[in-house]
Amino acid sequence: MTKILIDGNHILSGEIQISGAKNSAVALIPAAILAKSKSVIYNVPEIRDIDYLIKIMELLGCKIDHKDDALYIDSSNVKNVPIPEELSVQMRASYYFMGVLLAKFGRVEISFPGGCNIGARPIDIHIKGFQALGANVEIIKNRYIITADKLVGKKIYLDFPSVGATINLMLAAVGAEGTTIIENAAMEPEIVNVASLLINMGVKINGAGTKTIEIIGNKELDNGVVEVFPDRIESGTYIIIGALLGDNLKIKGIIKEHIEALLMKIKEIGINFKIDKDTITISKCNEIKPTYIKTLVFPGFPTDLQQPMTTLLTQAHGKSTIEETLYENRFKNTYDLNRMGAITNILTLNKLEIIGPRKLKGTNVIATDLRGGASLLIAALIAEGKTEIDNSEYILRGYGDVVNKLKNVGADIEISE
Ligand code: EPU
Repeated sequence: MTKILIDGNHILSGEIQISGAKNSAVALIPAAILAKSKSVIYNVPEIRDIDYLIKIMELLGCKIDHKDDALYIDSSNVKNVPIPEELSVQMRASYYFMGVLLAKFGRVEISFPGGCNIGARPIDIHIKGFQALGANVEIIKNRYIITADKLVGKKIYLDFPSVGATINLMLAAVGAEGTTIIENAAMEPEIVNVASLLINMGVKINGAGTKTIEIIGNKELDNGVVEVFPDRIESGTYIIIGALLGDNLKIKGIIKEHIEALLMKIKEIGINFKIDKDTITISKCNEIKPTYIKTLVFPGFPTDLQQPMTTLLTQAHGKSTIEETLYENRFKNTYDLNRMGAITNILTLNKLEIIGPRKLKGTNVIATDLRGGASLLIAALIAEGKTEIDNSEYILRGYGDVVNKLKNVGADIEISE
């Protein structure tokens, strides 16, 4: 078990460099299987989900070299083998092998994907889309077997603008004859990042980043090169930390347009910051105002920053409310936040109130999921005394080099495996 130990309440100054986005990288790596032979993916974050993805890629016959932050992937000898449960359950993103292998071989056998337990997280929209393209989907015990003699491009309307379904259907559509149009597509930056790799390989894609995406199938692809966008959720998490503990803390490598909802919200509650190109400078704010936040799909306020933001709002002067519209079970962090001295009340399944400001005290807590873990990590950084965060594997799934990044700016933080 991995533990993160923090002695809190240290002011943080210096620079934090943002890594590549987890949720882009976990789609770009499987997408490399579609290339003729070689692909290069730059700015890959050092997180545990990537380690497991590489294991799946190797199982499928890919040769992978890792130099600095670049992954060199040779997919010339890729073969289609079933992906076993011990690998597929390690992360949500194993579902991207469905789209990729369906496009490349017309057949996929994969056990159910895993991921954080933050709600039901069905993948019915992905499956409906594959079926619309002509695939047959069987579920036997806990395995999906998806087959297609041929895929044919279609107009597909997504019942919800799901990030995973949009990317998965874009990947599958590469192997379809003719044109696929995805309506009500997700608009998150991850979709643009994946489209840019596919376009680089020679696929014609229009509209990535808008509600309507058009993909023209093409099985004869070139090699691909892409850089992973900076992680907007990691950026937001460190911005929140800066608002609580920064002394001109600099967060470098951000894309402002990807975190606009967070920036507008923190400005509204009285937090000042300066942006110069890709760097934001932020200091501790002593007069945070309460607010109302509703999580939404991009460009709305991201659900993945909801839990870190909850910790910030424990320091606001008054009552804040958060409405979580994406997941049914994303307040599990509040149990330990309250044990640390916060006052949060779950009003309904998806509504939380936070009453501040409260002084937090260090204690032993347990990360229940990735962003819930981040919420406790932030709480530990602002708390008086020592906090031990059990199950910190969750935090390492999404925050590359988090301990060193924080230590380098003045946090008292250690990891113990
Ligand atoms: N949904 C369905 N059916 C589907 C797909 C989604 O009902 O077939 C529902 C989900 O249950 C959820 C909502 O739609 O209520 C959003 O799901 P979406 O498919 O957009 O999410 P995802 O692709 O499973 C990705 C990220 C999540 C992030 C969401 C929303 C990856 C690997 N995961 O998940 O990241 O919360 O988009 O932005 O890209 C995280 O990083 O902590 C994380 C959970």
